[in-house]
Amino acid sequence: MRVFWGLSALLMLIAGMVRPADSQAAPDTWTLLISGDTQGYLSPCGCTKPMIGGIRRRAALVRQLTVPGRTVVLEAGRASGGLGRQDVLKTETLAQLWQALGVDAVALSGAEARLGSAQLAQVQRLSGDRMTTLAVEPGGDVTWERWIERGPFLIGSLDPAAAQAATLLGGTPVPEATAIAALVAEAEALEKAPILMMDGNAEAARATARAWPKLALIIYRSDEQAAADPLKEGQTWLVSPGPKGKAVLQLNFREGEWLRYQALPLGPEIEDDPEAAALFRQYVDQVREEQLLEQVPRGAAAGLAGSDACMSCHNDAYNTWHASAHAKALRTLEQEHQDRDPDCVGCHVVGLDRADGFNPPERVTGLDAVGCESCHGGGKAHVTAPFENPMPKVGKESCMTCHVPDHSPTFDYESYWEKIKH
Ligand code: HEC
Ligand code: HEC
Ligand code: HEC
Ligand code: HEC
Repeated sequence: MRVFWGLSALLMLIAGMVRPADSQAAPDTWTLLISGDTQGYLSPCGCTKPMIGGIRRRAALVRQLTVPGRTVVLEAGRASGGLGRQDVLKTETLAQLWQALGVDAVALSGAEARLGSAQLAQVQRLSGDRMTTLAVEPGGDVTWERWIERGPFLIGSLDPAAAQAATLLGGTPVPEATAIAALVAEAEALEKAPILMMDGNAEAARATARAWPKLALIIYRSDEQAAADPLKEGQTWLVSPGPKGKAVLQLNFREGEWLRYQALPLGPEIEDDPEAAALFRQYVDQVREEQLLEQVPRGAAAGLAGSDACMSCHNDAYNTWHASAHAKALRTLEQEHQDRDPDCVGCHVVGLDRADGFNPPERVTGLDAVGCESCHGGGKAHVTAPFENPMPKVGKESCMTCHVPDHSPTFDYESYWEKIKH
């Protein structure tokens, strides 16, 4: 997989950033760009370089690959996961991005439907009515097109979870078979190629393609990075942009046939799109303004003292720690302007989820970084009477809450411990 990313990046450099030269040469060739399944990852996913993804790069690449009048842009939905205020802000930010980019169709997924009809109506409005689903009969408080016709395509989207949420939206669920049959029949009548964005995995997509061989393309969900080649089932191509908005898929279509497929990872070589960057900044500012960090739920006190309380007796350990990356972890977030983002701060300070942990207004010294107690646990009792209250032994397990694959893909205990040993 590393080889694939590396190679793609290299090829993109050589090609002077993927220009669909062949489609410009042939005027009847259409470009289809597919991204999505953002799952709330508006900024590049992962903390170590190279970070992949993010809406700023996505917007830049989509604009770069767009051949005016010959491009259809699709978004596979699932803007965010949860139901909290931050998920709402993320979904609204994405909706504004869809509008700004002129995305042609967005799959209305269960994630958006679960926000409830009032919120969904707001998102639909912000998006410029780009969200579509076949799973629910249009009607009720939120309006959407059953399908969207663009260029040679008829685009529909089907997420069973959206149907389950239909009652929330005041609409009637449509059985899956009825929904796909209607899409295929309408496409046939209009002489368009039917495209289905669906919530299932590759296996489910294959089954759907076998049942509906006239579908030209199925966009499915996958937790794996976008594949180097599309899956094929009869005449139907099956593709997935992969999870967390890390890639854009580029397909070319001419005279009823797919010509080319490329999965383009959103690596650091792609410069940020200014409009998307402004939207992202607005989102981060909103998170700060609404004080979402201050509202993070907290558990019982953990008996935290702060790293500075350990200095007097463990001077060497303190000095080693103070010189390490951990000691400046919150500063790193300040530089990114995300030091008030609940998505980030938990792993970059001590005890955000505890009553006596890091609290932004107070900024207790020694809790405003990854501190001694991030790994050793609360030391308040130990500080006053070290022998009566010995600290427990810790090891590799103390790293794993933060050094998870998404944020620390190169983590290896032996070599990492070597850099901070004390
Ligand atoms: C007043 C002095 C003092 C302070 C302050 C202090 N310690 Fe200690 N610490 C000790 C002593 C003494 C021992 C050795 C205790 C023993 O051998 O049972 C020790 C042992 C430890 C150990 C080793 C446990 C082991 O099994 O080897 C850890 C870890 C530790 N302290 C962490 C901390 C942390 C974290 C802080 C700050 C929150 C802290 N200490 C503050 C005096 C202190
Ligand atoms: C509370 C979360 C947290 C825990 C627990 C944690 N880390 Fe970290 N670690 C971080 C963060 C955040 C950074 C990045 C700091 C920065 O650069 O701003 C980091 C950075 C590092 C780095 C620097 C990487 C580099 O290449 O410069 C090393 C090494 C490291 N951690 C080792 C460990 C080890 C070993 C453990 C367990 C014993 C551990 N960490 C536990 C959050 C954590
Ligand atoms: C699950 C814990 C976790 C979360 C959540 C998290 N980080 Fe990190 N972050 C880490 C760890 C661990 C490292 C060190 C990674 C390494 O060096 O292997 C790190 C490192 C970084 C770095 C330093 C990269 C470098 O190489 O200098 C930046 C910047 C960063 N994080 C930003 C963020 C932002 C922005 C967010 C929120 C969108 C975030 N982090 C959320 C754990 C986390
Ligand atoms: C990133 C996680 C992490 C941080 C931060 C951290 N430690 Fe540790 N510390 C460890 C681990 C893991 C060990 C046990 C390593 C081993 O011996 O296997 C350890 C060992 C120790 C020991 C015992 C050393 C021995 O000889 O057995 C002391 C004392 C200690 N740490 C104190 C501190 C103090 C004080 C701080 C803050 C100034 C601190 N640590 C910060 C993870 C951490």
